[in-house]
Amino acid sequence: MDNFRKDLIVARDEENLFFPILKSVDLGYEIKELDFEEAGVAIRSYIDLVDVPEDLEPLLPTSFDVIGEIAVIKIPDELKEHSSAIGKAILEANKSVITVVSDEGVMGDFRVRDVQVITGEDSTKAYHKEFGMNFAVDLAKAYFSPRLATERQRVTRMVKEGELIIDMFCGVGPFSVTISKNVPGSKIFGIDSNPDAIKNFMENIRMNKVKNVIPMEGDVRELMSSMEPADRIIMDLPQKSFEFFELALGSLKEGGTIHYYEILTEVEAQEREDDLISIVQKQGRKMELEERRIVHGYSPTQNHYVFDIKVF
Ligand SMILES: C[S@@+](CC[C@H](N)C(=O)[O-])C[C@H]1O[C@@H](n2cnc3c(N)ncnc32)[C@H](O)[C@@H]1O
Repeated sequence: MDNFRKDLIVARDEENLFFPILKSVDLGYEIKELDFEEAGVAIRSYIDLVDVPEDLEPLLPTSFDVIGEIAVIKIPDELKEHSSAIGKAILEANKSVITVVSDEGVMGDFRVRDVQVITGEDSTKAYHKEFGMNFAVDLAKAYFSPRLATERQRVTRMVKEGELIIDMFCGVGPFSVTISKNVPGSKIFGIDSNPDAIKNFMENIRMNKVKNVIPMEGDVRELMSSMEPADRIIMDLPQKSFEFFELALGSLKEGGTIHYYEILTEVEAQEREDDLISIVQKQGRKMELEERRIVHGYSPTQNHYVFDIKVF
């Protein structure tokens, strides 16, 4: 049992079930490489423990994110006055959690979450473990999402030694650090306009002992024009990436790849593909859409999409 990854969801196709494992085990079954969906934390136990009026129980959130030692939960308005009881129940049910914060949404250009400590230690600084790496993030000052862990691994698997990479909206640097840790011969420039994100990024470079990662604080619109063209560009600003696509194209080598992220409905995703093709054509270049896939669901109608785009 210790070999199963409990942070990922069991996958299936028409005939098979696929269990995510930590390392290879010989149980007589075929081992395949797959992208598993991330699991929220199963919290039936907190629901069993919490003391709220019976008529409000159906509104209790059924999952929440855990970033390092901090549980981040969206509490519906009707339950706000019971936040403290919810926090206490989460602490009691999850021994590794030392702080519970409420998530009031992501705001502004820095995409920082409005978080309020509701129970436990009064700190918003988390140290999150991901695939053997450690990421520091002050959740009240910089963006971080544990839901991109598998996506960071997927992009990293495509990187070759010697590549020059620009991580355009790097936040606290999880893409940059993951790539450098796994492909040490690559060179990565991570750019972010949020000084607090860059501060955490520098801590993450030190903590994970990665080399060839260069943090740059500032606006991509000012910094990228003087940078050397890259083999690969990561554009993880999913609410606004489209505004920056031409800028990214201008900094990409021929034959280079852009990983373009955006939150879209299914219909919008198809339309966006056409928009991207027409922008590339206007520059007298050609693109090949190597893959368009859903990274994770975002709302009942929208998904967080990635487009892997090769440009010639
Ligand atoms: C969604 S977060 C990126 C998260 C990060 N890639 C990760 O995997 O955790 C977007 C980031 O873009 C930064 N940002 C927004 N506009 C920017 C700009 N014009 N130039 C540079 N960074 C910008 C924000 O400060 C924020 O940290």
